[in-house]
Amino acid sequence: MATVLRILSVLGCCLLAECLRHIQTTQLGLDPPTTNRLNGESFQQDALATFNGYQYAVLWEASERNTSIRHVVVARRVVGGEFEKLVLDDYGQVEDDGHDVISLGISRTDGSLHLIFDQHDNDLRYRSSTPGVATNPTKTIWAADVVFTSPILNFLPGLSSIDKPTHFSNITYPRFLDIPRQAQKLIPAIGAGGTPDLLLELRVGRSGLGDDWLYHYYPAENTNQSGRWVEVGKYLLGVNNNPYINGLDFDLQGNLHATWTYRDFINDTGKDVAVQAGPNGPENNHDLNYAYSPDGGYTWKNTWGQDVANVPATANLSAGSSKLGQIGAVPPGTPIAPTSPGIVVFGIPKFGGILNQEAQTVDSAGRVHVLNRENGTGVEQWYHYWRTPSLDKNTSGFWIRTPLPLSIPGDPNNITGMVGVIGKRGKLISVSGPSASENTSKGSSRQGSDHDGTDVTLFAILPSNAPSPRNPTMQSSALTILQSTSKGHFQDWDVAWSAAGGCGWEPLVDRYRVSERVLSLFLINSDERNNGTDGVVEVVDLQIA
Ligand SMILES: *[C@@H]1O[C@H](CO)[C@@H](O)[C@H](O)[C@H]1NC(C)=O
Ligand SMILES: *[C@@H]1O[C@H](CO)[C@@H](O)[C@H](O)[C@H]1NC(C)=O
Ligand SMILES: *[C@@H]1O[C@H](CO)[C@@H](O)[C@H](O)[C@H]1NC(C)=O
Ligand SMILES: *[C@@H]1O[C@H](CO)[C@@H](O)[C@H](O)[C@H]1NC(C)=O
Ligand SMILES: *[C@@H]1O[C@H](CO)[C@@H](O)[C@H](O)[C@H]1NC(C)=O
Ligand SMILES: *[C@@H]1O[C@H](CO)[C@@H](O)[C@H](O)[C@H]1NC(C)=O
Ligand SMILES: *[C@@H]1O[C@H](CO)[C@@H](O)[C@H](O)[C@H]1NC(C)=O
Ligand SMILES: *[C@@H]1O[C@H](CO)[C@@H](O)[C@H](O)[C@H]1NC(C)=O
Ligand SMILES: *[C@@H]1O[C@H](CO)[C@@H](O)[C@H](O)[C@H]1NC(C)=O
Ligand SMILES: *[C@@H]1O[C@H](CO)[C@@H](O)[C@H](O)[C@H]1NC(C)=O
Repeated sequence: MATVLRILSVLGCCLLAECLRHIQTTQLGLDPPTTNRLNGESFQQDALATFNGYQYAVLWEASERNTSIRHVVVARRVVGGEFEKLVLDDYGQVEDDGHDVISLGISRTDGSLHLIFDQHDNDLRYRSSTPGVATNPTKTIWAADVVFTSPILNFLPGLSSIDKPTHFSNITYPRFLDIPRQAQKLIPAIGAGGTPDLLLELRVGRSGLGDDWLYHYYPAENTNQSGRWVEVGKYLLGVNNNPYINGLDFDLQGNLHATWTYRDFINDTGKDVAVQAGPNGPENNHDLNYAYSPDGGYTWKNTWGQDVANVPATANLSAGSSKLGQIGAVPPGTPIAPTSPGIVVFGIPKFGGILNQEAQTVDSAGRVHVLNRENGTGVEQWYHYWRTPSLDKNTSGFWIRTPLPLSIPGDPNNITGMVGVIGKRGKLISVSGPSASENTSKGSSRQGSDHDGTDVTLFAILPSNAPSPRNPTMQSSALTILQSTSKGHFQDWDVAWSAAGGCGWEPLVDRYRVSERVLSLFLINSDERNNGTDGVVEVVDLQIA
């Protein structure tokens, strides 16, 4: 196996705000030899998640008996150690379709793991672990028949009686997200009691014709019980189109932020439909849209704080705990629609080069950051879009759009110089805290420093979209991590780390481990000369100095 020294060169850079230092590269397993990548897609949320001193990872691995069949593998390790794996070999994945990732969620309250997998416009495939496995990891034997004793379900526990074709058919893009404490306080109490700690977002429908839905997980009250899911509802309505979110993120005040683009529908009846998209491809994407929810997804506001949606069709909320049902002109059962006022923050036409599901993060001052791409100037370029901090009430709500410079001094990969309309997508993540940039010319002399006093460094984890010098039919597997700072108004982009190879598909990052000042990346390390068919799924840890 030609895995030796695929990371051809690693360049550290400590000149500016933050410095990334390689700590460790750990192999998870072999990437299945499919044409489309089943591991490591930008919408996979999450492939890698840290909780309670352990890091968990999910991946498909080919069956030892028949490499055309893939199994769900769930791995864990003490953070920084070696992974141990369990294989769920009672389910075989066979479609060569890059939508069919595995998404992992963790309930920090009852310690259960939640998996949804192999979804592309098909019936839900959900499986949860026994409670306690993540809260009592040292007492948990890491074996499939201990951790995952429940069967695969085509519904969410607690919701067995709701209409399956409406809720749990034609599912794609499941995403889990921890609901932090500050957001839990804002979620209205429902009749049956308890507090949710995990959010699920998914699409029902197909490309060009779909809606996005939200659910909350109410953890088990003791390890003899199981938790249950509650429907929040359809929050993003598609009308002859479908929304594609860049992400969903809570800020430190507990608000939930979403950005998305719409893809208009092309009737492809009788046309040659490719497994990935067909005529309903990204050229039909348009606009960057934004909304936020002050209550975990039940109601939504536009960037100016005006009410636009009141999601639950049948509010089952205890009296006095919520204003739902009495939001001025927005009656219950109103999702965010393409015509909702004030949701378009940048008008981007069809064929304008905007891609779907690239990257989003929210920083510690409440700034919403989006990475996407556009071709408004005749050159497809990465763009950074950001919203002024929610902490600063007076100026909150303004959006700024800046292309990443086409050339970043010191980037050996020239990563921003060649961006494709359909190229590997990047990720964004931020860290707060005092930065060393105080002493550089870039930091101190700028106008308009943070009103809240929170300095932030934003990392853009960017995979190469350029042809590989070693195989022109493949994209290069180079990776560059750029950084910019709040003090520099996120225009002081500089190289934080780079590698000439090792990132054969879309890089993912452990959003929960970054608070330990580590960027823990989930990468497919494959050799372009082998058409990417020999990839190794790796976790690469970089210390933020
Ligand atoms: C391997 O699995 C594929 C997909 O289910 C099946 O078509 C094929 O016949 C299997 N091959 C063998 C040797 O069992
Ligand atoms: C959605 O799922 C149902 C089965 O529940 C199926 O009959 C229908 O064809 C699907 N629709 C699309 C657009 O895939
Ligand atoms: C709705 O409220 C009633 C009574 O308050 C409760 O019994 C029921 O379980 C609630 N339904 C859901 C889905 O939470
Ligand atoms: C859980 O079940 C075990 C054995 O079945 C029992 O000993 C224990 O008391 C139960 N715990 C609770 C909280 O019900
Ligand atoms: C697409 O066109 C076919 C043939 O004209 C029609 O039967 C079908 O209903 C259309 N589909 C949609 C979703 O509009
Ligand atoms: C960007 O737009 C220009 C002019 O419309 C076009 O020539 C070019 O091919 C586009 N770039 C990409 C990557 O599609
Ligand atoms: C923000 O607005 C409030 C009133 O809405 C005003 O009292 C305050 O001075 C403003 N702050 C700044 C920094 O402009
Ligand atoms: C980087 O890419 C741009 C755009 O493709 C190109 O013009 C430039 O020459 C490249 N720079 C280097 C140093 O390769
Ligand atoms: C700035 O430079 C001074 C002198 O070199 C040093 O003592 C100080 O620690 C530096 N401050 C930061 C924030 O790096
Ligand atoms: C890679 O793909 C190309 C084009 O499909 C093919 O000609 C070539 O043989 C493949 N190489 C390997 C090593 O599989």
